Amino acid sequence: SGTGMPSGPLLGFKSVPIGTADRIVVPEGYVAQVIAPWGDPVGLSGENPAFKEDGSNTAAEQEAQFGMHHDGIHFYAQEGSRQGLLVMNHEYTDDGLLHADGMKTWTAEKVRKSQAAHGVSVVEVAQKADGQWEVVRPSPWARRITARTPMAFGGPAAGHALLRTAADPAGMRPLGTLNNCGSGITPWGTYLTCEENFINYFKGPDTPNAHETRWGLRKGEPAGYRWSEHDERFDASKHPNEPNRFGWIVEIDPFNFSSTPVKRTALGRAAHEGATVAVTKDGRAVVYSGEDSRFEYIYKFVSRDKIRPGGARENAELLDHGTLYVARFNADGSGQWLPLTHGQGPLTAANGFADAGEVMVKTRQASDLLGATKMDRPEWIAVGKDGAVYCTLTNNSNRGGNGQPGVDAANPRANNSMGNIIRWKETGDFDGARFQWDHFILAGDPANERADAKGSVKGDMFACPDGLWADHRGVLWVQTDMSTSAMGKGDLARMGNNAMLAADPRTGEIRRFLVGPSGCEITGATMAPDGKTLFINIQHPGESPSERSDPAEPRKFSNWPEHRAAGRPRSATVVIRKADGGVVGT
Ligand code: FEO
Ligand code: CA
Ligand code: CA
Ligand code: CA
Repeated sequence: SGTGMPSGPLLGFKSVPIGTADRIVVPEGYVAQVIAPWGDPVGLSGENPAFKEDGSNTAAEQEAQFGMHHDGIHFYAQEGSRQGLLVMNHEYTDDGLLHADGMKTWTAEKVRKSQAAHGVSVVEVAQKADGQWEVVRPSPWARRITARTPMAFGGPAAGHALLRTAADPAGMRPLGTLNNCGSGITPWGTYLTCEENFINYFKGPDTPNAHETRWGLRKGEPAGYRWSEHDERFDASKHPNEPNRFGWIVEIDPFNFSSTPVKRTALGRAAHEGATVAVTKDGRAVVYSGEDSRFEYIYKFVSRDKIRPGGARENAELLDHGTLYVARFNADGSGQWLPLTHGQGPLTAANGFADAGEVMVKTRQASDLLGATKMDRPEWIAVGKDGAVYCTLTNNSNRGGNGQPGVDAANPRANNSMGNIIRWKETGDFDGARFQWDHFILAGDPANERADAKGSVKGDMFACPDGLWADHRGVLWVQTDMSTSAMGKGDLARMGNNAMLAADPRTGEIRRFLVGPSGCEITGATMAPDGKTLFINIQHPGESPSERSDPAEPRKFSNWPEHRAAGRPRSATVVIRKADGGVVGT
């Protein structure tokens, strides 16, 4: 067929039922093992601070431990499928859970610990003779990248006036990465981590200007973080360009412990959910990325140059030169990629874009002017083995609301509580300027009374798709993120806990593979090359729908994975294997 898809059945497991228990449920014949929970040491040389379940680890200890709220993840095999590096994002912190006394006091040390629990972990993992996996400690690759790690800028906005601050007058040396949600990998062996809801960390000025308002900066301290009280960098009234230094896709070389992570400004600034790389037939890199925010956009970057042999070193500037596009989905099933090229169309100095760097910093404003399609919260993107590109649109309760954009062909449901998976096929190669699109699945529950919440699911029902990953056989793995405040109520009354499902893109059949513990979402997926080990993350077990201020609060909802009376729920990686040693999903 030329699609690269196998002809036999893709899904061989018996699906698991919807569940509400505080545990992981996997299909019959599968085993699940927890590794790398928040607070365990990552294996830095000479530093192995043990996790203290009363939350009393210091900021310095947290800098040597796994961060909180695991998200995107990738396994880089080194020796076959039994040893390699695991690189993962730590999206955000629940400060009520992170500190011994929750939010009762607020200090510089607590801000520093919160910053240390963000970012990325690089660890070495290996499979033991009994099949179980372990984190190797110490390891020469073990590394923590946090909200304070020195980084560099690359691409057209590097050094731009909008990126310059008092601490970095050249606009070239940002500090740290945060809200690292989805991730991606490059064919030259690097890791891409994405800065999603960065604006929530900044205290806004009394009167935000039009640029600040478009990016969601509001007057005063954002709820939950309060970093600016002890770290002035996060007070945008004093350092107005600091927010412009976040919202980027950051490239990390996990095999070089001392490498400097680089924020790639040619990929545009957005609340990037993830970054998924495809390669054109002539060897150029194409990076797809969605911006997970209501009524924001889907982007693709096409590199100017071809990928060169020689790994990270030879491709150190590949993502600095190219063209960024934003998607328009037409009602007739066709689509266009609109270039964000300075000087073309409305992207001129007269319209507020002085140069190419300013277009990259003000990606949202540029996309507004180009007439791109405002989507229902684009999350992860996967390039299928069938050559199609799939994107989860998680939900959008504001669609069709008062004063909000109405439904359109690509976002067809008002009060979209359930989410969709949209897919498109590029015309020609991955760098094509046009595409054809359709909906792979409208998520939903057929028993719902509201027509817009029934969906078109063939198989096991689900809601709010977020994580999306295509494995080497072509299975599409879908992870759900129903928010804690909506879970178990209204349209989601019968959906249970968040889950992971496997879809066959040829037939649209979908089967529930895993149900997570209470209050969690399922994030990130990666397999060993032989397909016999699947790594996923469990994020925010026990997330409380109420104010996050008291460490005891989450325990009312979950105490996963240890279930110790005085313990705390911990985000962690889960390793899933078939008991008979077979390929996961068969
Ligand atoms: Fe961090 Fe869009 O999920
Ligand atoms: Ca996500
Ligand atoms: Ca989330
Ligand atoms: Ca989400």
